[in-house]
Amino acid sequence: MPRLTVIGTGYLGATHAICMAVLGYEVLGVDVDAAKVERLASGEVPFFEPGLPELLVKALESGRLRFTTSFAEAGDFGDVHFVCVGTPQRPGSYAADMRFVDGAVTELSHFLHRRALVVGKSTVPIGTAARLTDMVQRLAPAGEQVELAWNPEFLREGYAVDDTMKPDRLVFGVSSPWAEEQLRAAYAPVLAQGTPVVVTDLATSELVKVAANAFLATKISYINAMAEVCEGTGADVRDLAAALAYDDRIGGRFLKPGLGFGGGCLPKDIRAFLHRAEELGVGQAVSFLREVDDINKRRRARTVDLVRELVGGELDGVRVAALGAAFKPNSDDVRDAPALDVASTLQKAGATVRVFDPAAMDNARRTHPELSYGQSAMDVTRDADVVVLLTEWAEFREIDPVVLAGVVAHRRIVDGRHALDAGQWRAAGWEYRALGRP
Ligand SMILES: NC(=O)c1ccc[n+]([C@@H]2O[C@H](COP(=O)([O-])OP(=O)(O)OC[C@H]3O[C@@H](n4cnc5c(N)ncnc54)[C@H](O)[C@@H]3O)[C@@H](O)[C@H]2O)c1
Repeated sequence: MPRLTVIGTGYLGATHAICMAVLGYEVLGVDVDAAKVERLASGEVPFFEPGLPELLVKALESGRLRFTTSFAEAGDFGDVHFVCVGTPQRPGSYAADMRFVDGAVTELSHFLHRRALVVGKSTVPIGTAARLTDMVQRLAPAGEQVELAWNPEFLREGYAVDDTMKPDRLVFGVSSPWAEEQLRAAYAPVLAQGTPVVVTDLATSELVKVAANAFLATKISYINAMAEVCEGTGADVRDLAAALAYDDRIGGRFLKPGLGFGGGCLPKDIRAFLHRAEELGVGQAVSFLREVDDINKRRRARTVDLVRELVGGELDGVRVAALGAAFKPNSDDVRDAPALDVASTLQKAGATVRVFDPAAMDNARRTHPELSYGQSAMDVTRDADVVVLLTEWAEFREIDPVVLAGVVAHRRIVDGRHALDAGQWRAAGWEYRALGRP
């Protein structure tokens, strides 16, 4: 079994490192964030991911998983090095910020003294792997003995353990049979379950990831565009989506209307794809992604409008209870979170917004200190003039409208996620509004 390093131990890297150790590999996790390394080494997962804390304990106890900030140790230890650092949007541009990938690969290369495979897992612009191959072979003492491969990651936060242990497919972007062999060895237990694998070139493997995310974003924005049409016609987008979903060719997944997508992946990935495609002279082919992004952003603005309409047109002094902060349920990730965007816009418009999220409170407080935060859904809804459901956590779906009616100042709710039963809420005396519904 090859010895593995995982460079960058955030949502993706920590999950990968922990799961690979549980699957039987010796793994060294590497991060520049010493505090994160310390927390992981002491058995604490620094973010919310169901099932992962238990596996971290198990992996540490096995003695197969360690964490470090030392690239020298990583170079010495690893046969296969997985690069899992962040590729956020570059400030002031649609392009991906490649500083972290370039930094990590540069730093690691100095310590590659023997044959090794560097495997990118981060989501990157097409052409990155070819560029990094030159860089690694120039910088590494082992020179052309070091090869580069790309193995894009498709895990979903909230389901990250399952998606890592039992992925729908693996994609290996390689430039030699040796690199493919190394990847097959590094994933042997996953491949043994019959997981399909697509072996391809470097550029295709990079493209698979952004193409997949572009498709998912497009599907979400498609149904949200239909919600806009419904708003102009009096039609009901929820019934429309249900009827469309019965068609196998369309399918119901990612066809849920609402406040739209956010997070650390879809928004920045479609923008980086647009940017890179333009650089490559094929911008026209994906120019529709600009519209996909715009439709998505309009849902946030429209949610704010719905709240304003529901309270009679004026937000100044209105007490808003915001349920949810994370970009989706079962995650504490607030990167580009629609929920916080809406909460913050309402606050800027003069409302007093109190937020509660089951997992993302610390992250939300850090990124949005201007908002106030409560202890529970009941706490933030007390005396509220309007309630806005922004992230569809199960505990919000299960709220009893009769009980909540006894807590609020006014029974008004905007269901930003089509998560509630409108009939039940209306029966309990609530004015219920949702995007794209009469
Ligand atoms: N989060 C997801 O669900 C997900 C899914 C698929 C793909 N991805 C992709 O994976 C990549 C990582 O995403 P993430 O969500 O894990 O990000 P993250 O911000 O949670 O983690 C990135 C980690 O890299 C570390 N880092 C930065 N520079 C470093 C360096 N030079 N050396 C070592 N470590 C360094 C950071 O300290 C951080 O811990 C991105 O490209 C993302 O698009 C993420």
